[in-house]
Amino acid sequence: MTALNQLGDLVQQLAERHGLRGFVETGCFEGDALALADSLGFSPMMSCDTCEHWVEIARQRVPTAEIAHLDSVTFLRSIVTELDCPSLFWLDAHYPQFYDRSQSDSKRTKLPLYEELCVIATRPSVQNDVVLCDDIRVISSGDNPVYWQALEGSVLGQTPGYFIERRFKLSDFRNVLAKTHESELLPIGEGIMAFYPR
Ligand SMILES: C[S@@+](CC[C@H](N)C(=O)[O-])C[C@H]1O[C@@H](n2cnc3c(N)ncnc32)[C@H](O)[C@@H]1O
Repeated sequence: MTALNQLGDLVQQLAERHGLRGFVETGCFEGDALALADSLGFSPMMSCDTCEHWVEIARQRVPTAEIAHLDSVTFLRSIVTELDCPSLFWLDAHYPQFYDRSQSDSKRTKLPLYEELCVIATRPSVQNDVVLCDDIRVISSGDNPVYWQALEGSVLGQTPGYFIERRFKLSDFRNVLAKTHESELLPIGEGIMAFYPR
């Protein structure tokens, strides 16, 4: 089950309140979130993944979605101006090696959240979009109440500290869309940062 399901009716309420039609995801994995978006009537639906296997699985599961075999930043750059409707962005791409042992992590792909937000901020109509960012628990900064200190040890067989992000403070993420969006930290699941149109 995707973390997006844990938001329950919120996604539907956001879609109605802000007139959201498009669904854009980074990191499709098995297609759970795309299936949810499909069931809620989002169209168009676009996603991506660095792992070809997960792209194929998600394409079979949700044939109406456009799913690119690309890293998230390249993918977002390719669609942000062409997508011309108010959209929900579900940013969920991280740790490629964890999801597919044949992949290697790079500085660009390991946790691309800040770079993804910077690309989304260039959208001409970004003020109409809603952005939800998963996995905020990994951001190690004093201003992050949902940081999981337990991640500093060895987790799920990964080397100690593998999941931790130390490059940014939570306020750095908030600031990217501060002119156009209010932000809220939802302390559910693995920590979700929500950006709503002002
Ligand atoms: C948490 S899973 C995604 C779950 C899915 N979004 C959902 O809600 O059902 C993360 C996925 O991101 C992919 N991934 C990791 N780093 C990536 C990157 N830099 N760009 C695109 N996909 C990436 C992984 O291969 C994995 O399939």
